[in-house]
Amino acid sequence: MVVGAGGREHALCWKLAQSSLVAKIYCAPGNGGTATEEKTTNVDIAADDVAGLLAFAKENDVYLTVVGPEAPLAQGIVDAFEAEKLKIFGPTQAQARLEASKAYAKAVLRDLNIPTADFGVFDNKVDALTFCHANDWARVIKVDGLAAGKGVMVCDSVSECEHALAEVFDNQRFGESGRTVVIEERLNGPEISLMVLCDGKFLLPMASSQDYKRRFDNNAGPNTGGMGAFSPVPSYQELQPRIQQKILDPLQAALDAGTFSFKGLLYIGLMIQDNQPYVLEFNVRFGDPETQCLLPRLENDFFMILEACTLSCLYSYSLFWQPKVAVGTVLSAEGYPEVSSKGVPITIGQPNELVKVFHAGTRLDDQQQLVTNGGRIFNVVALGETYDEARLHGQQAIGAIHFDGKAFRTDIGAGVGNIREWLKELVCPSVS
Ligand code: AMP
Ligand code: GLY
Repeated sequence: MVVGAGGREHALCWKLAQSSLVAKIYCAPGNGGTATEEKTTNVDIAADDVAGLLAFAKENDVYLTVVGPEAPLAQGIVDAFEAEKLKIFGPTQAQARLEASKAYAKAVLRDLNIPTADFGVFDNKVDALTFCHANDWARVIKVDGLAAGKGVMVCDSVSECEHALAEVFDNQRFGESGRTVVIEERLNGPEISLMVLCDGKFLLPMASSQDYKRRFDNNAGPNTGGMGAFSPVPSYQELQPRIQQKILDPLQAALDAGTFSFKGLLYIGLMIQDNQPYVLEFNVRFGDPETQCLLPRLENDFFMILEACTLSCLYSYSLFWQPKVAVGTVLSAEGYPEVSSKGVPITIGQPNELVKVFHAGTRLDDQQQLVTNGGRIFNVVALGETYDEARLHGQQAIGAIHFDGKAFRTDIGAGVGNIREWLKELVCPSVS
């Protein structure tokens, strides 16, 4: 059973369905894409209805549950399933604090001496503002708790910080999540997403990827859940030894020593400043939209990899990646991220075999017609020998998808690099 309803969950179902060891997949609640995916059936249970999911898994003898979004993890779905001896891929509620509390994540990073932006933690506006006045580097305000990707405010000046802090503490825009804030040093540089599988003992990094958070071309406009991604990131190969030494080795040593515990997928959000990697954030689940670009490149049996995580024998696995790049472009509703689209009819052409159209905000209506059902509607992922070739395949598929209000960025994967820059990563993937 895959828990969730987005493009990430469609990609998880699609990849799991390719395993000869998988006979049937339930997706709860799923979308219009999972409804018609091979071996997959949607189940009408919300992703955060932990009791409902648990009851369904028991009744239907679900062998393995894979959790997509963070909310059920933070609610303790893994603890609830494991208490009933049901197998589930993901971190416990305590481990999920790495994403659910930014102050906790920063404390872990500091304890392990992992490079991260300098910071302070505050539970009131006066002290928070004093900190911003006293430190000209303190310009990023983050609410401590989960905020659906909206809880980070990157400021240019003290007055912007003041405005952000007023939103948090005076207007209480983030409710409980905003009781505490982390104020960070503002870093500058490109970002890389690194997803790492962890079985409780061993870290196994997946391929690198990068997402595009802003709504419009050239990174203009508001932040979104992600308008596209590509994998791999050409600069990752050169940075990898430093990332290994400064970030992955300390995490592995802490796992070995028992001072850090994690099982599931650890998403490490990196910013590269002056050629040095810094950890911006941890997520405790697969990234969206990055996962949609990684899984089409993965050659391993994905079910076996997840199973190896639950059985703590990941050390005996290596990941193999197709020597192709992936570029994934999100098709959203016109008004996204402010406004979503509901019930608008969709037609899709038949994309070529190098393209996979993952559904996000879609559903089948009562007449089995595919209609819109959210802000981000599709993620069109294309493979290619080069980024430009992948982009071309993607553009053809995007042109064949029609719904009123279709919107997308045209620069996903543009100007990323040439074959010489990424060939080394493809030929020498780092497996651990
Ligand atoms: P987070 O959810 O912590 O990854 O933050 C969301 C986005 O805010 C990141 O992807 C960055 O683009 C930006 N951001 C977060 N922390 C910082 C920082 N310390 N300096 C500059 N930008 C940041
Ligand atoms: N792409 C960032 C995330 O999944 O949170």
